[in-house]
Amino acid sequence: MKAMVYYGKGDIRFEERAKPTILEPTDAIIRMVKTTICGTDLGIWHGKNPEIEQVAREKTGQWNGRTLGHEGIGIVEEVGSAVTRWKKGDKVIIACTAHCGKCENCQKQLYAHCQSEGGSWIMGYMIDGTHAEYVRTPWADNSLYPLPEDLDTDTAVLLSDILPTGHEIGVQYGRVKPGQTIAIIGAGPVGMSVLLTSQLYSPATIIMIDLDDNRLAMAKEMGATHTVNSGKTNAVEEVMKITGGRGVDCAMEAVGYPATFDICQKIIKEGGRLANVGVHGQPVNFEIEKLWIKNMTLTTGLVNCNTTEMLLKSCCSGKLKPGKLATHHFKFSEMEEAYKVFEKAADHKAIKVMLEY
Ligand SMILES: NC(=O)c1ccc[n+]([C@@H]2O[C@H](COP(=O)([O-])OP(=O)(O)OC[C@H]3O[C@@H](n4cnc5c(N)ncnc54)[C@H](O)[C@@H]3O)[C@@H](O)[C@H]2O)c1
Ligand SMILES: [Zn+2]
Ligand SMILES: [Zn+2]
Repeated sequence: MKAMVYYGKGDIRFEERAKPTILEPTDAIIRMVKTTICGTDLGIWHGKNPEIEQVAREKTGQWNGRTLGHEGIGIVEEVGSAVTRWKKGDKVIIACTAHCGKCENCQKQLYAHCQSEGGSWIMGYMIDGTHAEYVRTPWADNSLYPLPEDLDTDTAVLLSDILPTGHEIGVQYGRVKPGQTIAIIGAGPVGMSVLLTSQLYSPATIIMIDLDDNRLAMAKEMGATHTVNSGKTNAVEEVMKITGGRGVDCAMEAVGYPATFDICQKIIKEGGRLANVGVHGQPVNFEIEKLWIKNMTLTTGLVNCNTTEMLLKSCCSGKLKPGKLATHHFKFSEMEEAYKVFEKAADHKAIKVMLEY
C-alpha cells in the first residue's frame, strides 16, 4: 500500500509500505476513505519530534520510519478477536486519541493519558498513522465512532481531532457560558474549531485575534463578533477598547508561542480563565506577580476525544457546521502536493486540506 512516511527532519517519503496487521485482540484494521493533514504532522516533518526515532530504536533496535497522520474516516477491514462493537464493512470515524476505557485515567475520562499500551495520542507518532491506505487502530471498541450515512464526509474527518480539541481544551476548560466575552488567539484550524464550538454555549462577544487578514475574515463569517490583527495593532489595547477596559471572561490560546500566551494573560478579567490549547516549544513568562490577585484560572491539556460523540450529534443535527474549514481537496495519490499546500497554508488561503482515497 502507499503511505506518507517520516524518516527524519525534513525527510518524508510517499512510498510503498506493508499493509498493517492485527497485533492485539483489541485492534482493528481500517481501509481509509478520507484523511487530512494536521499542523502536528508538519511539525514532525520539520523535526519537532526527534523522540519518534529515539523511542523506536529503544523499543525495537531499529528505525523504519513512521507513517504520519492521526485523522480520518474509513471502512473496517478486519477486527481482532476481542472487538465486539465493529465488523468488516462498518463505516467509522477514527479518533486521534485511543483509550482502553479501564485504567485509572480512563475512568476519569482523561483518555489523553490512558495508561495502557496503545492508548493516548500515539497514531502517526509512536505507531503508524492514517496517511496510508490502511491503518491499525488500537482499542477499536472505544476509539472509533459510527459514521452516519448522511453526514458530510469532510465534517466527519474534522471530528477526529480539531473539533474535540477546540471544544474540550478550549471551550470546556475555558467554561464558556451564555453572555460572556471571550477571545480566541489563533485562527488556524484549531482556533476556528474553538470559534465554532464556543457558539454552542452562546457567548455574547467573540474576539478573534490572528496575523492573517484572510483567516480573520473567515472567522467573521463563522461567528466572530470582532477581529483583531495583532501584527498591525496592539492586540491587548484593542481588546481593552472592545471590552470597555474590562478584559475577557475567557481567553483561549490556539497558537503555542510566548507572544500569544502573553496576550492572553494580559486580557483576562478578574475571575477569568486562560485555556491554553497551543502546543508550546519554549517557556513562557507567566506573570504570577500580576495575576495572583485576579482569582483567575489557567488550564492546559491534550485532547481526550471524550466529547466526540456529542459533537458528532451536533454536526448531524446541523447545530455545528464546520464543513467550510475544508478549503482544499486532493486525491490520496496527490499527498505530496497536499503537504506542500498545507505547509504554506496562509499563502493558499487553506485551513484544512482533504484527501480522498
Ligand atoms: N492541546 C491539544 O490537544 C492540541 C491538539 C491539536 C493541536 N494543538 C495545537 O494548537 C495550536 C494551533 O493549531 P493549528 O493547527 O490551528 O495551527 P496553525 O499554525 O494552523 O494556526 C495558528 C494560527 O496562529 C496564528 N499566529 C501565529 N503567530 C501569531 C501571533 N504572534 N499572534 C496572533 N496569531 C498568530 C497564525 O497566523 C495561524 O493562523 C498548535 O500549537 C497545535 O500544535 C493542540
Ligand atoms: Zn492533530
Ligand atoms: Zn486507559
